[in-house]
Amino acid sequence: MTSTRKTFDLVVAANRLPVDKQVDEQGNVEWHRSPGGLVTAMESVMRSNPGAWVGWSGDAGEAPPPFDEEGMHLRPVGLSAEEVRDFYEGFSNDTLWPIYHDVIVPASFHREWWAAYVRVNRRFAEAVAEEAAPGARVWIQDYQLQLAPAFVRQLRPDVRIGWFNHIPFPPVELFAQLPWRSSLLEGLLGADFLGFQRQADARNFVRACRQLLGLRAKGERVALDDGSGRQVRATAIPISVDYRGLESLAQQPEVMARAKEIRESLGNPDVLMLGVDRLDYTKGIRHRLKAYEELLLERHIGPPDVTLVQVATPSRERVEAYRSLREEIEQTVGRINGELGKIGAPAVHYLHHSYPREEMAALFQAADVMLVTPLRDGMNLVAKEYVTCRHDLGGALVLSEFTGAWHELHQAFTCNPHDIEGLKQAMLRAINTPKRDKERIMRALRRRVADHDVQRWARRYLAALDAAPGVPAPDPRG
Ligand code: ADP
Ligand code: G6P
Repeated sequence: MTSTRKTFDLVVAANRLPVDKQVDEQGNVEWHRSPGGLVTAMESVMRSNPGAWVGWSGDAGEAPPPFDEEGMHLRPVGLSAEEVRDFYEGFSNDTLWPIYHDVIVPASFHREWWAAYVRVNRRFAEAVAEEAAPGARVWIQDYQLQLAPAFVRQLRPDVRIGWFNHIPFPPVELFAQLPWRSSLLEGLLGADFLGFQRQADARNFVRACRQLLGLRAKGERVALDDGSGRQVRATAIPISVDYRGLESLAQQPEVMARAKEIRESLGNPDVLMLGVDRLDYTKGIRHRLKAYEELLLERHIGPPDVTLVQVATPSRERVEAYRSLREEIEQTVGRINGELGKIGAPAVHYLHHSYPREEMAALFQAADVMLVTPLRDGMNLVAKEYVTCRHDLGGALVLSEFTGAWHELHQAFTCNPHDIEGLKQAMLRAINTPKRDKERIMRALRRRVADHDVQRWARRYLAALDAAPGVPAPDPRG
């Protein structure tokens, strides 16, 4: 019997769907945009490369039926409440996330979390195998799905399999702590092509294959020893933003008027500083607040002339490290405002919400200084979004050298967030550098993002996937 089910030439798999299911107290279902940089980037890619997106709907329980949205076919994968705890909050975000981000907080190892990770990765692979047309391109995303490439290969040897890591890949000394390190590498080696944010991440992966699996590798290629003759290529293809789409949003008169209104409602400060992050310990929010507080205490700056807006999107709120970070940040903001704010002029405006894209673009345009100070970040799209929105060449970007973005935007006001004195100096330089010099810097930053936007990233990725070595052709010399 032949099936009439529609299948797709491009299938993306990511832990999250682009939309997140939320059920209110009355039981009404609403779909909101999912948080994070992966969704921002992949959503714009899928607009110009139609296909299916396999992902979790963001709440526990059975998967809702597949549905179509904005030209994409969305195929939900269900996670039980235990799997949300063990696969998502546990293994993905309390084991892998800390190990892959320099162990800024300690990682937890639990064998039942691993069992859930294996089970859920297999479920994703099964859904991908059902959605993929013969010979399709399958593009698996991020650290939550490192076993899926090998599972997909078992089920569908006919498809081309790529994986892209949105976060750093750790040095072998850290990766080796994982009791399941060999299985993770073998899962990834099920792909034809592996993409990373930085060349250093790709090198860390190749080194791990050599040292932990004893495989041979030449440059970017790892040779499998399973008798297949297959090779897997691992290289850097840094992700980006939809430059043209976002720039034209930022040029809309309503967005520009809103930027002015934001400044007015803050009392038209001389300097408006801005932080925009998921509330995550990797983002260096504590270090940023410490540097800002010291600048206020030392009277280098102060409200109402200078103010800071910190937007901190809620994230992973049931994981202990995130809960305690939130408490600490909120206490610190309260203390700074209590001690250093003035009536009608708080030193920090703290907002724990998500906003529509238009509001984010207005905030970026309103800000004189954008503070991007992560301790470790695979890329950081906020940095690229800020410069994209500054078509007026205004503003200054303070950027941590520990972000992937810094490798492309090193003309920014660079900082090492661990060095509080250095961070303070970078903030003061961003405030005090003459306008003309700041415009020159902003022009260079914008040119880089304009020439390396997310559409170019997707084209380069898919071309590299198509050209990946796979099984090497027979040697023409015989
Ligand atoms: P991460 O993926 O770790 O969250 P990125 O900086 O790469 O970090 O991406 C964050 C994405 O989420 C960006 O597109 C940013 O504009 C968006 N974002 C961050 N905070 C908010 C918020 N409060 N409301 C809406 N979008 C937000
Ligand atoms: C980062 C990760 C993504 C993740 C996002 C939001 O960007 O690389 O995979 O989706 O954060 O985190 P969450 O846990 O809410 O999906």
